[in-house]
Amino acid sequence: MDMSMRRINRSLVNRALRLGVVGITLIAGSAHAQAADSGLRLASPDGQNVVTVGIRNGNLYYTLQRKSRAILLPSFLGFEFRGAKRLRDSLRIVTSSRKTFDETWTQPWGEVARVRDHHNELRVSVLESVAPARKFDVVYRAFNDGVGFRYEFPEQPGLRDFVISEELTEFALADNARSWWIPSNRPRLDRSEMLYSSSPASVMDSVQTPLTMETRDGLTFIVLHEANLVDYARMNIKGPYMDNRTLHVALAPLAGGDKVRGRTPFVTPWRTIQLADRAVDLAPSVLGLNLNPPSVLTDVSWIKPMKYVGIWWGMHIGTMTWSSGPKHGATTANTKRYIDFAAANGLGGVLVEGWNVGWDGDWIKNANAFSFTKPYPDYDLPGLAAYAKQKGVKLIAHNETSGGTVNYERQMDSAFALYHSLGIDAIKSGYVTDTTPEGHSHHSQFMVRHYRKVIEKAAKYKIMLDVHEPVHDTGERRTYPNMMSREGARGQEYNAWGGEGGNPPEHETILFFTRMLAGPMDFTPGIFDILIERGTGRPRRPEESRIRTTLAKQLALYVVLYSPLQMAADLPENYENKPAFQFIRDVAVDWDESHVLEGRIGDYVIVARKEKNGPEWFVGAITDEEDRTFDVPLSFLTKGRSYVAEVYADGPGANWLTNPLPVAISTRAVNAGSRLHIVLAPGGGQAIRIRPAK
Ligand code: NOJ
Ligand code: CA
Repeated sequence: MDMSMRRINRSLVNRALRLGVVGITLIAGSAHAQAADSGLRLASPDGQNVVTVGIRNGNLYYTLQRKSRAILLPSFLGFEFRGAKRLRDSLRIVTSSRKTFDETWTQPWGEVARVRDHHNELRVSVLESVAPARKFDVVYRAFNDGVGFRYEFPEQPGLRDFVISEELTEFALADNARSWWIPSNRPRLDRSEMLYSSSPASVMDSVQTPLTMETRDGLTFIVLHEANLVDYARMNIKGPYMDNRTLHVALAPLAGGDKVRGRTPFVTPWRTIQLADRAVDLAPSVLGLNLNPPSVLTDVSWIKPMKYVGIWWGMHIGTMTWSSGPKHGATTANTKRYIDFAAANGLGGVLVEGWNVGWDGDWIKNANAFSFTKPYPDYDLPGLAAYAKQKGVKLIAHNETSGGTVNYERQMDSAFALYHSLGIDAIKSGYVTDTTPEGHSHHSQFMVRHYRKVIEKAAKYKIMLDVHEPVHDTGERRTYPNMMSREGARGQEYNAWGGEGGNPPEHETILFFTRMLAGPMDFTPGIFDILIERGTGRPRRPEESRIRTTLAKQLALYVVLYSPLQMAADLPENYENKPAFQFIRDVAVDWDESHVLEGRIGDYVIVARKEKNGPEWFVGAITDEEDRTFDVPLSFLTKGRSYVAEVYADGPGANWLTNPLPVAISTRAVNAGSRLHIVLAPGGGQAIRIRPAK
């Protein structure tokens, strides 16, 4: 037995002793045990995921098993309130009730068109047996792909207005699972733009969700996250204390340290535990969507996934500026050039950053200087809106707030009304700040409320959203399908200026199994000038920030990293006379089906997606710094149909470090019985369009 095993057993025993029972099958319950002690059992429809909820020594706990193996040992539930006794002790279960649910619903856009919501529900009503006799329900839903639970507080005399100073929810891991995480308490603590680390769960400090873990026997994948975050603080996860493996909820604080201010009746977001036997079964993830209310928008005809270009990369590589002056990017002439380029290549949108007054000086500090209606004098807003319209292209308005939410909210109505009147129906917003000017965490209840307000207001004006520096995605898009995409991870921009040489080749193979499980990401793929020669005037050296992928991998990212708003991020001139650009023109952005064909977290992933309402399939394959080969059966194709595969592969000698540019483009006839031999260069990728043969 190695040291780590011994640690686990000791920890299991400690926990068991603390709970007053011996052994690890705590929930089996003897014939003599009282009802509450033996726990209430809830199984998923396929019987594989089993939750037990019970009381021990006045504490409410739950456990989770998959396929009869412990995933979570008894984990306590409860709250600390400011100025009141903590709500965790002297609890008893009063009643419980059950429901089952099975319904398939349709998404207006997404990784999959249809989603099945099949779950069993257990509602447990809990009462404090001493004064102030507070009561709440804890509701569990068990799905075949995981479990969600939340707290619901009815209106009651003992709990009216309240301040949560800590949520005491625990996740007591049964295994010291390998975890992929980004910190939530380091510099840039309030954004999500760090590189991932992986470690045993026991040495995690404070981390963000989605938190993906793999048990050490490789048999179970576990993802902690939350769903339907509406009026609460974002959930982070505090790592275990010494000598155990219990993870704790850590809520992002308001200025002064309070976590959540509310009034009963009140419900918390769902805490979700996605479960799968294989990494490839984690995506597409719909657990969180199923825990959000259905769409409240009746007319969604104006909500349209699209590809877009933008006056954007130039600012990041230094050929243009957001601010006014000789290098100002958002000029009328330059914008026309982008509109023409989009129109000529069938790309739906043109993002323009730096069009509005407020960028001069230190724009990160001058949040209140931003106007969201007033263009710089060299930017003819109405003229360009008309020009775009005539070319069949949509302008995307950029709203950088620098975290000045008060300034933004003050202008929202007039700005959104203006955009709507000009036919601008998409906004890219931004919140470049750590703590807000008011002193709240970037992910506090204050900010959660703001983000939500923007979604609702935008819906009112029929505007789609792409939010940068957002709060993490908790499935809002189900209720408000105008909430299209967001950043909330380290995107392509870090390859322009991020230090550390840019994102390492493994980065996107981790993103896929972590951040992307929450929802779409505006990663902004498609940089062809891998060495950023156009910006720097010479190829950047390996130790400088540059794109650490091959060019073919940039194409594959369109399929792998899902977004309904997908950018062709490079300068238009970098796409000129590049045959590989054809893939960006062709690739779909909305899907009927998505299948993960191969994948190992941090190593590689291959995804196949079928375009929405059409016969074409697209395959994206990416690897980390290692070269790899795969033999992929195309059994997902319609049987008996002939197709042509257009393959964009790493060319001869391609290598992200020394030779990133070669792309070999070829076509071959395929059908459902074919296999594709996929060869990936170090840091490479492959993108494939599969269309019916004529
Ligand atoms: C950070 C965003 O991620 C980036 O896309 C944008 O260009 C800058 N902020 C400026 O708003
Ligand atoms: Ca960013």
